[in-house]
Amino acid sequence: MDNAIKTINLTKKFKDITAVEDLNVEIKQGEIFGLLGPNGAGKTTTISMLCTILKPTEGSAQVNGYDILKEPEKVRKSIGIVFQQPSVDDILTGLENLRLHAMWYGVPKETRKNRIDEVLELVGLQSRQNSLVKTYSGGMRRRLELARGLLHLPNVLFLDEPTLGLDPQTREHIWKYIEKMSREREMTIVLTTHYMEEADNLCDRVAIIDQGKIVVMDAPDSLKEKVGGDIVYLKTTAADTNKFKEIEEVSKIEKKDDCIILTVKNAGEHLQEILEISGKVERVEVRSASLEDVFINYTGKEIRAETGEGGIVQRIIKERTVR
Ligand SMILES: Nc1ncnc2c1ncn2[C@@H]1O[C@H](COP(=O)(O)OP(=O)(O)OP(=O)(O)O)[C@@H](O)[C@H]1O
Ligand SMILES: [Mg+2]
Repeated sequence: MDNAIKTINLTKKFKDITAVEDLNVEIKQGEIFGLLGPNGAGKTTTISMLCTILKPTEGSAQVNGYDILKEPEKVRKSIGIVFQQPSVDDILTGLENLRLHAMWYGVPKETRKNRIDEVLELVGLQSRQNSLVKTYSGGMRRRLELARGLLHLPNVLFLDEPTLGLDPQTREHIWKYIEKMSREREMTIVLTTHYMEEADNLCDRVAIIDQGKIVVMDAPDSLKEKVGGDIVYLKTTAADTNKFKEIEEVSKIEKKDDCIILTVKNAGEHLQEILEISGKVERVEVRSASLEDVFINYTGKEIRAETGEGGIVQRIIKERTVR
């Protein structure tokens, strides 16, 4: 079996809202696939249909070779899910939650204890395994949820915002483990995240979705190449933007308030020239194109849900619109 997942015109409508529209995706066995998009794009709805929690309005899909409409039980037994909303049982301890899950998913008795110990260690919950989940912090519940999703070593693992709200070290630790699982066991992973750098580092391919439709889908590096270069931010009011057109490698020029944003191939090599044209510059920032830029390029919107903090770059990225 080459494809772990194949969707055919998968569509979900909620009354007048089309949450997912004609989704056609093939995800290979062992692939780490990212679904990226702003709030309300249709990521959770897509995952819910693939996990057989929601019924599509139209279209269908196969997961692990099973049809989500005709063989939902088989689909469920062959997958792991980490929901965006916590679903672990509050009135049980962490350990009891994991034991129940292991039995439900038929983890063999001989390996059950080892598997539970391994995932507890992964998420750093050994010392609290006998506490009731209702006494856990939000991050601890999230970690238990992850431990549970990984426990039975599913062929396909769905992770909906798995590391949201976790501290950076735990996040990194978990991503490394997920990557290892995927590589060693050819586990297919479908994840959503708002952490762009994580998607970039981890995913073999990402699909950027907006308003229920795939805007673009490719390997992160190929997508970033499509942006056409590095991004240069200049805080200046002195520059004549037309002059940047003289530099062949500048593929895009945008102006936002007191800032100019350039897309430049090999920006480092042209920085001197750019600064000479710019006149008095209060601040310069140069960085490689990110998946965030890819999204802005294709949709004219920013992808990130978070608001608030931010230096010049964040502020401009948030406010920036193209086309
Ligand atoms: N049960 C429901 N009833 C009505 N509308 C729904 C329901 N579930 C989702 N929607 C709508 O479908 C659209 C897609 O929602 P979905 O939860 O899939 O987005 P998402 O991409 O997961 O967003 P987020 O990043 O916020 O998690 C939204 O407009 C949402 O309001
Ligand atoms: Mg969601």
